[in-house]
Amino acid sequence: MYNIAIIAGDGIGQEVMNACEYLLDKLDLEFSFEYGEAGFDCFNKNGVTLPEETIKIAEKSDAVLFGASTSTPGQPSPIINLRKALNVYANIRPIKSYRGVNCLRDDINFVIVRENTEGLYSQIEYGDEEKMIAERVITRKASERISKVAFNLCEKRGQSKVTCVHKSNVLKKTDGVFKESFYNIAKQYPHIKTEDYYVDAMAMYLVTQPQNFDVIVSSNLFGDILSDESAGLVGGLGLAPSGNIGDHNGLFEPVHGSAPDIAGKHIANPCSMILSASMMLDYLGEWETANDIKNAVEKVIAECKIRTPDLGGDASTIDITKAIVKELI
Ligand code: NAI
Ligand code: MG
Repeated sequence: MYNIAIIAGDGIGQEVMNACEYLLDKLDLEFSFEYGEAGFDCFNKNGVTLPEETIKIAEKSDAVLFGASTSTPGQPSPIINLRKALNVYANIRPIKSYRGVNCLRDDINFVIVRENTEGLYSQIEYGDEEKMIAERVITRKASERISKVAFNLCEKRGQSKVTCVHKSNVLKKTDGVFKESFYNIAKQYPHIKTEDYYVDAMAMYLVTQPQNFDVIVSSNLFGDILSDESAGLVGGLGLAPSGNIGDHNGLFEPVHGSAPDIAGKHIANPCSMILSASMMLDYLGEWETANDIKNAVEKVIAECKIRTPDLGGDASTIDITKAIVKELI
């Protein structure tokens, strides 16, 4: 029996989470779900975007599933604070070409490893009406820790290269430490190739030669931007899952946000959420089921019959979920 914290959040977060729960209920595994609130609707109800109660539910769970939250003016981001509270310092975002999807190329298969606890997402901002300052915190400890995750993941995936992305020509001190930490850790993995690029050049290489990357490691903001760009190479945010992993907790969520433009229409693609649940099962040691879910999603997408509008079809969120479940059981 696994205790799973479910935090659906706002907008399509609710819709894709319903789909995900529907699928999990059909599996041959036992789950006990505990529900937590977070996000914009939660703020309107409770006056906070991330209640203490939600953090407690997440902390005591075996793993957390998070949908998406709409940002609340003047309030901290609930997902950034939840990642911090759980110290899930590594945000893992796999990107791959799916058969039958209009991808830039059909041989893309890399993963972005994004540092999750500091960088420009420290949310430390101050100043006055004339001048505002945001602190970009980079520590050697977090930089070495995230590099280690990247090299270990490269080994686990059986790939050969880790690419460090930074901007140390301008951010000489902060990204100087990030890059130096990367090469320090690289010494422990002499069998793995290394390279590093400035983030602006990398934004171009991701389009011109995405097939050449295996594992990409970067700081918080750069990793966030590059992962949406990368999702765009392989069919969009409807197929982009992610896991946030720490030493004691795992939190799994789609890369996308609450998509207010399509919320309530029941046409959101649930595959990012479902693939995130597959990553969760992998984390929990349920490798076979995790793999079955991945295969079922791939098969339904490849058949091109039942797809949500983001992939050119006219199926609803629940239509495609049922098709995936049918493949599974
Ligand atoms: P978004 O990721 O919500 O949407 C970007 C575009 O992708 C939209 O056109 C949307 O319709 C489409 N899209 C996203 N997920 C989709 C899915 N599953 N199926 C089909 N189409 C999908 O980003 P946006 O519009 O910039 O932000 C909307 C809200 O979400 C904002 O309040 C933002 O702060 C928040 N946000 C929250 C995140 C989180 O909770 N982790 C992450 C990113 C944004
Ligand atoms: Mg993002």
